[in-house]
Amino acid sequence: MGDQKIIGKERGAVFGGETAWDHLNTILSKIQPSRLFVLTDENTRTHCLPYFIKKIPIAQDAEVLSMPAGESHKNITTCQQLWQELSSKGADRKSLLINLGGGVVTDLGGFVASTFQRGIEFINVPTSLLAMVDASVGGKNGVDLGMLKNQVGIIRNPKAVILDTAFLETLPQAHFNSGITEMIKHGLIHSEAYLRKVMEIHKSQVDDLVWESVLIKNEVVSKDPTEQGLRKTLNYGHTLGHAIESFRLRSGAYKTLLHGEAVAVGLILANYLSHRLFGFPKSVLDASATYLIGIFGKEHFGGNEIEEIIKLLIFDKKNTDGKVQFVLLEKVGAHRLNCEVEDKLIHESFEFYKNF
Ligand SMILES: NC(=O)c1ccc[n+]([C@@H]2O[C@H](COP(=O)([O-])OP(=O)(O)OC[C@H]3O[C@@H](n4cnc5c(N)ncnc54)[C@H](O)[C@@H]3O)[C@@H](O)[C@H]2O)c1
Ligand SMILES: [Zn+2]
Repeated sequence: MGDQKIIGKERGAVFGGETAWDHLNTILSKIQPSRLFVLTDENTRTHCLPYFIKKIPIAQDAEVLSMPAGESHKNITTCQQLWQELSSKGADRKSLLINLGGGVVTDLGGFVASTFQRGIEFINVPTSLLAMVDASVGGKNGVDLGMLKNQVGIIRNPKAVILDTAFLETLPQAHFNSGITEMIKHGLIHSEAYLRKVMEIHKSQVDDLVWESVLIKNEVVSKDPTEQGLRKTLNYGHTLGHAIESFRLRSGAYKTLLHGEAVAVGLILANYLSHRLFGFPKSVLDASATYLIGIFGKEHFGGNEIEEIIKLLIFDKKNTDGKVQFVLLEKVGAHRLNCEVEDKLIHESFEFYKNF
């Protein structure tokens, strides 16, 4: 990942580039945890743990905790098992948990660490593209409640985040694409130049694009860590995206979607709403829809699925006073917060998607 790359000096600092692992080794010798725990899922245990141990030799003696892979395990039952395991394996308040995995592992592991004995230190080592550019950075941790996404959680930064794109070599293509969605989101809310670069992505340039995405996310989060306003822009495309993801998780009848797949649809719908309400440019609406549908194909929303998805919007965490509030854009990088949107227009956005 090129030269030394560091964002931040304190809690939540992100280390990339060639020296990232040196920094982790230094942090470990500085904090001298009483016990070291590494959380993986079944895939990252196989594909990422051996490389991780090569980079961090003392992890050879770490206690490895494993969870089943996938969003359906991002729940309190998995947390309970891990709290129990930490407890039975002698974790104390000076123990350290390293989350080695995708966004499910970093979201859930951060929550487990932040609540175990009222909070032990944790470090994120993201292994999926989505976790590198988004989930592992910014301090949001949590789990799903039934079908509702991220309803239980806490904002607390990891001690550090270590980025190494070498992990991506074993990441399945569908999950790689899922990460691209969040990079497109960063482009839409922040910079047309970055948006264009991501749409022309070549895997050979992924290092720089990942770093640029993290810089964008970090800039937003550091200006508004507790999500009073600006940070809501990181939720662009997620109001409908999460509702689609939740609905598909719950309903056995339809194909489930990866987070990034659902948010890709959510971004197209949000761009359409932005276009209709605030004149978001048709050229960007079309270019990003072409790009995202090119990667993911088109989802079919049948029967009364759209009605059900709209019903789920009421659980969105940005809502106040029971009103659904969208983040929309006037143009790339120019947002409008707390927008109310009529159901009729949401149906129209699905029509646009269907006919595109
Ligand atoms: N906290 C935040 O701010 C934030 C932001 C965005 C997304 N998220 C959350 O992130 C989650 C999605 O993250 P994700 O897409 O990384 O999902 P994930 O953790 O399920 O990882 C995707 C899949 O890839 C596998 N995998 C990961 N790294 C691998 C590697 N290097 N080689 C082989 N296989 C690998 C995993 O085992 C899993 O099967 C969602 O739960 C979403 O809500 C959180
Ligand atoms: Zn997301």
